[in-house]
Amino acid sequence: MFDIEKFDIKLDTDIIGRHFIYAEEVSSTNVELLNNRDVYISHGTVLLAENQTKGKGRIAKKWYSARNMNLTFSILVTESKFLGRKVNLLNYVASLAVALSIENLYQLHTELKWPNDVLIRGKKVAGILIESTSQGSNIDRLVMGIGINVNQALFQGSFMVEPTSIKIELGHTVEREKILSEVLNNLEGLFENVVSSPNIMLNEWRERCRMIGDRITVVNDGKTKKGVFEDIDDNGFLVLRSGDKTETLHFGELSIR
Ligand code: BTN
Repeated sequence: MFDIEKFDIKLDTDIIGRHFIYAEEVSSTNVELLNNRDVYISHGTVLLAENQTKGKGRIAKKWYSARNMNLTFSILVTESKFLGRKVNLLNYVASLAVALSIENLYQLHTELKWPNDVLIRGKKVAGILIESTSQGSNIDRLVMGIGINVNQALFQGSFMVEPTSIKIELGHTVEREKILSEVLNNLEGLFENVVSSPNIMLNEWRERCRMIGDRITVVNDGKTKKGVFEDIDDNGFLVLRSGDKTETLHFGELSIR
């Protein structure tokens, strides 16, 4: 059972997670928070569910997470300063916040895999799915959905990247409350960076990314693009170089192999 008091004592934010909803079961925390605009209003609202019946992963995949063992939660973003031209940067904010939290709390070395997977020893410990709604051409509401494998010890099925959990890596069970508060504390700081100094945040992300400089294959709408992963640009797009030609790719529509 998730202990809300224990979580609250460690939460050190002004906004993120100050409105906190705990649910036993929802279809998907992303769907619940994004679609119920009359119920969930304030920026920084966090919805945590012990179980998702239709947990969503990237590229129309499912996200499976054992009940009561892990963290599956979403954060509502409605402040316009975060929803403008550089909205893509929120992917990096989320994965970096998770990576920093795992490193700070457990001294485990993490790596980031583009676009936003968090890995330990090459295995996936967390995934992020950002979804949004728009009014005309402007994003008006966005949810940052985060799934962290915390105390799950066994994973069944086939995965594009082999999963792991913090428990598997450490060899013992850990407190979910502590991880959630640490992630939200880190997120709040990084959110401010996105507006004031995005490059500091991006550089931290680049330092942990295992793919920059590698030859990669990107699959977009059935089309395959090959090249060298040159960098992430200031707007959060991937810069792919093939020969002397470079192009920027929007990862919202892409998968990578
Ligand atoms: C991925 O790596 O494919 C992204 C996984 C994102 C999973 C989280 S769990 C909380 C939130 N609600 C969802 O339905 N998905 C995200």
